[in-house]
Amino acid sequence: MRRAGLAGLGSVAVLWLLALASLLGLWSQRLAAPGVPGPGFPREAAGSRLGNLRRAAVAPGESRRRLGLASQAAQKTFRALLTLPGQPPEPPDAASESGQEPPPALPRRQRPAAELPASPVRGGIFWSRALEAQVPPGFSAEETASWLRAARAARVVSLERGGCGRSSNRLARLSDGSRACVRYGINPEQIQGEALSYHLAELLGIQERLPPLALSRVEARGGQWAPVREELRGSHWAEGAVVSLARWVDNLTDVVAPALWRAEAGRRLQTLAAGELRGLGPAQLVELVQWSDLILFDYLTANFDRLVSNLFSLQWDPRVMHRATSNLLRAPNGGLVFLDNEAGLVHGYRLLAMWDQYNEPLLRSVCLFREATAQRVRELHRLRNAAAELRRLYRTREPLAETLGFLSDQQAQLLQDRVDLVHKHILHCKAKAASL
Ligand SMILES: Nc1ncnc2c1ncn2[C@@H]1O[C@H](COP(=O)(O)OP(=O)(O)OP(=O)(O)O)[C@@H](O)[C@H]1O
Ligand SMILES: [Mg+2]
Repeated sequence: MRRAGLAGLGSVAVLWLLALASLLGLWSQRLAAPGVPGPGFPREAAGSRLGNLRRAAVAPGESRRRLGLASQAAQKTFRALLTLPGQPPEPPDAASESGQEPPPALPRRQRPAAELPASPVRGGIFWSRALEAQVPPGFSAEETASWLRAARAARVVSLERGGCGRSSNRLARLSDGSRACVRYGINPEQIQGEALSYHLAELLGIQERLPPLALSRVEARGGQWAPVREELRGSHWAEGAVVSLARWVDNLTDVVAPALWRAEAGRRLQTLAAGELRGLGPAQLVELVQWSDLILFDYLTANFDRLVSNLFSLQWDPRVMHRATSNLLRAPNGGLVFLDNEAGLVHGYRLLAMWDQYNEPLLRSVCLFREATAQRVRELHRLRNAAAELRRLYRTREPLAETLGFLSDQQAQLLQDRVDLVHKHILHCKAKAASL
């Protein structure tokens, strides 16, 4: 009897869940349908977290009402329902057509941990070389070049929903056995931002932290996409659209911002400076080395869809800084992976007025740098050639560079201005450290 009652209750619950899931399914399709722009943001990717943030940015009151003061965590769970219906977090390994396993995207083991250096900082503002040497390796230039060559020559043998974020993205299995997350931009600006940010990372010498990225034109009759013609039909992707392929990385896990940036609403951010490292262990320091690059990168590209979006969400979610950081993941070897840079450079530059109030304090909260990154910034400042160098790299590395186009003159100037500001900030940190 009791069991029957419980079973009855269970069926009611299952029915409720099914009804809720189908409602969400309908909604997700509506949100993901191309050409259905979000209210007030006609050029936004409908249904994207970016879209949610931008809507919230323009009308905070309205957004709060819509969100019902829901926590970011709840929002994430909700989005997960929308974008990943019933998908496993990571797909099983695929063997290539030749039956061979592709090599792993990242070296499996971290370099052996060395002794913690006497001082993790040198020259007042640079991470010590010993500490930098402990940063887990990312995607090496050779591995990257070889994967990009293979991926560009490979055929897409299957396209699956889920595992790669929003419902317009796909997980592609390639004929060389590797996998890639394919990002389709409802607005071409998104793919442009993703690709240009990727190449800016090379210019800054930090590209090893980003999964290798190639562009591809989707042509159902073309050699590369022909095997998935059927799947393309159900994707709502426009024929001829340029998509990005980011190399798949196994077993990524969430990353919570270091304690330093776990600010509470209305509080000033602490500063990452030589005098503030007491009590931190080697693992925390190694992580901060990577964060210092990330914050410079996100400032230069005006990417608001990472730590900045969490800072923004503090308004209604005081615990948001204790939750996973968007678009940042950790590889099994401990290294950080900067994913999804679509908000950078193009999109971000259009919304500077809104997001720089968060981006600038974040930049100013960093007074420790990798010396190599600071040197790149100094050179780009001295030669005033940030955009020209970016264009050169982009054209050299990406065969489809011309198809998507480059930054406008105004955006190119904004990039140089931001490089100059970062350089000035580094000098300021240096002067401050010298005066102590
Ligand atoms: N190259 C990759 N390798 C492994 N996992 C990936 C890769 N790209 C994306 N993912 C997985 O998909 C998730 C979402 O990716 P991404 O941010 O690129 O898509 P999105 O559409 O912007 O989704 P969201 O709105 O959740 O940020 C990541 O958090 C990660 O779990
Ligand atoms: Mg994302």
